[in-house]
Amino acid sequence: MRICIINGPNLNLLGIREPEVYGSLSFTEFIDELKKKYTNISIDYFQSNIEGELIDKLHEVGFDYDGIILNAAAYTHTSIGIGDAVKAIETPVVEVHISNVYSREEFRHVSYIAPNAKGIIVGLGLKGYELALQAFL
Ligand code: DQA
Repeated sequence: MRICIINGPNLNLLGIREPEVYGSLSFTEFIDELKKKYTNISIDYFQSNIEGELIDKLHEVGFDYDGIILNAAAYTHTSIGIGDAVKAIETPVVEVHISNVYSREEFRHVSYIAPNAKGIIVGLGLKGYELALQAFL
């Protein structure tokens, strides 16, 4: 099984950025742990702060991977382009947010990805990525 985890803007700063909201573990540390735990799954990871690069990656993996775990971060709430890309591809997408976006500012309550996502996991910290992985399994 091939899974691609795609993270959007500012998530390269996980572990450093607002640790009270996003935790103190870096994503590379987290991915290493995940890979060790799920040796039967091929897990690729891509992060970009650039909207078009996220769209290109969705196109690249969106026709032959088994699942995509997408945290488009702030672009979730603004990007019709990423929303359209999720609609255009064939691989199912699970949308993940580390924080509970519904307990935060109102602009975070809107998602352009959700209408075309297979499922959504919010507010469970990094555990949400693992739960998405288990859902694909
Ligand atoms: C986030 C929530 C977004 O609103 C925010 O812009 C992020 C991270 C989350 O994982 O909780 O950058 O997607």
